[in-house]
Amino acid sequence: MATATVDHATAFDAAVAADERIEPRDWMPDAYRATLVRQIAQHAHSEIIGMQPEANWITRAPSLRRKAILIAKVQDEAGHGLYLYSAAETLGTSRDELLDKLHTGRQKYSSIFNYPTLTWADVGAIGWLVDGAAITNQVPLCRCSYGPYARAMVRICKEESFHQRQGYESLLALSRGTPAQHAMAQDAVDRWWWPSLMMFGPPDDASAHSAQSMAWKIKRHSNDDLRQRFVDICVPQAESLGLTLPDPDLVWNESRGHHDFGPIDWTEFQQVLKGNGPCNEQRITQRRTAHDEGAWVREAAAAHAAKHRSSTSNGSDSSGSGSGSTSQGEESA
Ligand SMILES: [Fe+2]
Ligand SMILES: [Fe+2]
Repeated sequence: MATATVDHATAFDAAVAADERIEPRDWMPDAYRATLVRQIAQHAHSEIIGMQPEANWITRAPSLRRKAILIAKVQDEAGHGLYLYSAAETLGTSRDELLDKLHTGRQKYSSIFNYPTLTWADVGAIGWLVDGAAITNQVPLCRCSYGPYARAMVRICKEESFHQRQGYESLLALSRGTPAQHAMAQDAVDRWWWPSLMMFGPPDDASAHSAQSMAWKIKRHSNDDLRQRFVDICVPQAESLGLTLPDPDLVWNESRGHHDFGPIDWTEFQQVLKGNGPCNEQRITQRRTAHDEGAWVREAAAAHAAKHRSSTSNGSDSSGSGSGSTSQGEESA
């Protein structure tokens, strides 16, 4: 047994070193599997919880065009959740189990979604900054060593790119609008800037999982490197928008070839993470309610699948017989 494990481990290490993809049927270390389940689940949860702050504005979007864009975006996030739950299922965990862990607080979602969307400009700021930070984080995940996760990220990143652009375009319209609209856009950027920087996670020296994830090529860049990249991308974009980033220490550093920026309030981050953010309670309560109210959709889907199976009765078709399609219907509740 020991020899077999060593052989498997050698083959796994060689595949990772050669930048080959690890696929669901391949042997993998238990810790690699557990790390992926934790990360993909947290990512999936973030996608579906992230629908809430923006869905809050669908009925109040200022025009039919903005409403149509926002509905499409929120639907995209439901789709991202579905791809990611499916990717997690290839690791031997079920969607029901993951949702249960989310609903009982045993797994987390991105802290950014515990902040409220107070004005219409927040929808633009989320698109520009939150989806922008998500892309910066996720583009390198398209090269993640685990095949199903990497492939899911390719499509997700294309859609996130649309999200980022619609946010930018929406903020630009406000910034160039009336003084009140400009002020609303600036206020939204003031509130979303720092939480967006926190999305990259704790500093490298305080990040528990980073080093091992990078060795496994799940992660390709450190939290601080990605955060720096994001700041460098945002500074010229803020200038084009005619908006100010709320950081007096933000300045180009010629010798580093990057922007320096001020200290991040990690106490706030830890507080939100612990459940003490402005909307933690509301988000999880709404998620549980949506799940309960969507039970009939899951039951109907399962009944339909069972009927389809018995009517085709070819015997071998077990594909698509999972826990049923869940999220989309229930999210509209
Ligand atoms: Fe997304
Ligand atoms: Fe998005």
